[in-house]
Amino acid sequence: MTLDTTAVTGTDVVLSVRDLSVVYDGADPVRAVRDVSFDLARGEVLGIAGESGCGKSTLAYAITRLLKPPGRVASGEVVFHPADGPPVDLSTLHGEPLRRFRWNRVAMVFQGAMNALNPVLSVRRQLADVFTAHRPELRRAEREERCRELLDLVGIGPERLSAYPHELSGGMRQRVLIAMAMALRPDVVVMDEPTTALDVVVQRDILEEIDRLRARFGFAVVFITHDLSLLLEISDRLAVMYGGRIVEYGRAADLHAAPAHPYTVGLLRSFPRLRGERTVLHGVPGSPPDLSRPLTGCAFTARCPYVFDACHHTDPSLRVAGTTRAACLHYDPALRPDGPPEALRAGRFDSGPAECAVEEAGGDPPVDTTGRQPRREAAEPPQASTDPVTAQAESAPERDGAAPETGPWPPTGGGTR
Ligand SMILES: Nc1ncnc2c1ncn2[C@@H]1O[C@H](COP(=O)(O)OP(=O)(O)OP(=O)(O)O)[C@@H](O)[C@H]1O
Ligand code: SF4
Ligand SMILES: [Mg+2]
Repeated sequence: MTLDTTAVTGTDVVLSVRDLSVVYDGADPVRAVRDVSFDLARGEVLGIAGESGCGKSTLAYAITRLLKPPGRVASGEVVFHPADGPPVDLSTLHGEPLRRFRWNRVAMVFQGAMNALNPVLSVRRQLADVFTAHRPELRRAEREERCRELLDLVGIGPERLSAYPHELSGGMRQRVLIAMAMALRPDVVVMDEPTTALDVVVQRDILEEIDRLRARFGFAVVFITHDLSLLLEISDRLAVMYGGRIVEYGRAADLHAAPAHPYTVGLLRSFPRLRGERTVLHGVPGSPPDLSRPLTGCAFTARCPYVFDACHHTDPSLRVAGTTRAACLHYDPALRPDGPPEALRAGRFDSGPAECAVEEAGGDPPVDTTGRQPRREAAEPPQASTDPVTAQAESAPERDGAAPETGPWPPTGGGTR
């Protein structure tokens, strides 16, 4: 697959998310998204990875203002930056302005194509509904023409307009959903597991389709999946979520070449490589944290082979970790003046917490566990930028008040600071 490799500067931001937290209210409130910040550049693909229940869909609903009770945004903000006007704080939109914003500016492809389409309405009716709601001025013949164009856009013949969802293959249903999201030419499309239920051949076709459409219309994509290897291939930048938080963030190529957070290392170590030597695969043993219970310290403590004392009581925030940003206390020079353990630097994930028992050097070379090619070539060092995650990493101390980063890690590449 040929993917557009236009560089993303990160300066022309279309959507900015700041310290976003989402709670599902109830007897035991679930803190599904915790203090998430990122900027989405115009036209870029931001991949969001993480295992089931880490808050990916909740984040998607929050940034599209589709969150329903008992979910609510507890704090933080999402700001849309139109190319042709002043920024819009999404929390201020209600009623008709909100309705106009959704789908026109930010559209979503929902998780689970079969459930997202109405089973008793034809494809024609469901596509036409978008135009009826948002382009009421269109006459019936014009709506029909637009619906045909949309299907054509995603490689489906117009004869399928009369079909019902159950008469289409999974891949076709997903294409219809993508067509629907494209209907009003939005600036941002949030795609929640758009290819997860599809076989790899159809998955690839759909990814190519998305990339083609993105190149043609210039929209930015937030692509959500638990498949990190897939994201490495299609994303410009990546955010790895764990326990409702972003625990690692960076350019896809950097994250692939030198993952910093133990969880990312564990995820990358879970994929077989297609080329090169055979290596022993490690999963990430254990289960994600229960987000309805109070979390003390790092949420990854129970599963982390690199856990040490401070992890049990200090909640790490994102900070510079080599070429990416990671929420791990091993990158806090006040706590670890010698930097992270050699094994972590080398990309090893020997399962099970062992109070840093894996300090010994050597072992496997880091990563390329997927056999996939990252979308970008290894990049220049991260720039000082307006990106809030970067800014947070560059400025924020740990929550218990760490010293500024002046330690010897990373040993080279002072430009990353
Ligand atoms: N309506 C709800 N009420 C209460 N808790 C919820 C609700 N919806 C989701 N949650 C909880 O919020 C957390 C995040 O859920 P979310 O669906 O966002 O995860 P996800 O990363 O999208 O998972 P998956 O990969 O399985 O789709 C989970 O602990 C989930 O149980
Ligand atoms: S070493 Fe500690 S802070 Fe880092 S991921 Fe493991 S448990 Fe969390
Ligand atoms: Mg989900």
